Amino acid sequence: MAKIIGGLFTSHVPAIGNAIAKGVQQDPYWKPFFDGFAPARRWLDEHKPDVAVVFYNDHGLNFFLDKLPTFAVGAAAHYEHADEGWGLKPFEPLPGDPELSWKIIEGVVADEFDVTTCQEMQVDHACAVPVELLWPNTTPHPVRVVPIMVNTVQHPLPSAKRCLALGQAVGRAIEAYEKDLKVVVLGTGGLSHQLDGTRAGYINREFDHLCLDRLIDKPEALTRYSNVELVDLAGTQGIELLNWIAARGALGGNVSELHRTYHIPISNTASAIQLLENRPAREARLRRTG
Ligand code: DHB
Ligand code: FE
Repeated sequence: MAKIIGGLFTSHVPAIGNAIAKGVQQDPYWKPFFDGFAPARRWLDEHKPDVAVVFYNDHGLNFFLDKLPTFAVGAAAHYEHADEGWGLKPFEPLPGDPELSWKIIEGVVADEFDVTTCQEMQVDHACAVPVELLWPNTTPHPVRVVPIMVNTVQHPLPSAKRCLALGQAVGRAIEAYEKDLKVVVLGTGGLSHQLDGTRAGYINREFDHLCLDRLIDKPEALTRYSNVELVDLAGTQGIELLNWIAARGALGGNVSELHRTYHIPISNTASAIQLLENRPAREARLRRTG
């Protein structure tokens, strides 16, 4: 059976892709940020997941404001990374796992999440940069990906409660898949940041740490915030926290935090990397209830 082994939560910023392309990871500005990924890479090297299910938001590349699903699941054989207007060189296309994608789609639709299904899909920095950070310089890619897009861009956005529930449904669908696969879940974006308007540059360190703490053992506490409250606390783009909440939902109840780095700023963003590992107790509980 497929098994979710843990989750990795990371910021996504186009400038990170540029730093990788220029090879400036050791420059003083970037070093603390890139160094934060070493423990996560060691963990991936040790556990070697087959597939990464990536909860992210599209920034106008694959979907634009004229047609924007609330939730969309990729079901393609590969996902092209394309430039969204930054003039950056795209990374190599990411291999997909259409069979797992369809299991997830069937599972979540049966759970009453009416997702958009994408048999062709381009992915932007929000999916490609975290994959490149976690599996750098690897062609062909050692993991297949299933991208799951959450609308964090245009009103009305799904609630934090709905995103957590979507993630839980995705987690159930993955663990009901009969193939022996190791799956890691990624949540990308955030943490607090605001790129425009009078609060451009806004960062809320205290709220970010509260979110990182609650993601470990009490993610449902984060669902008490309305989206207006989240924008107020985390900034207009800090609402990308919804991707993290959805990804956390897929991990189920029992996780341990193995690693966390919090670093300000990358671009106008409070950046973080968090590694949560699923505890064996979860398996025991599933066996009891299953
Ligand atoms: C930037 C873009 C993002 O999508 C994001 O989540 C954070 C920062 C940026 O352009 O700096
Ligand atoms: Fe973003």
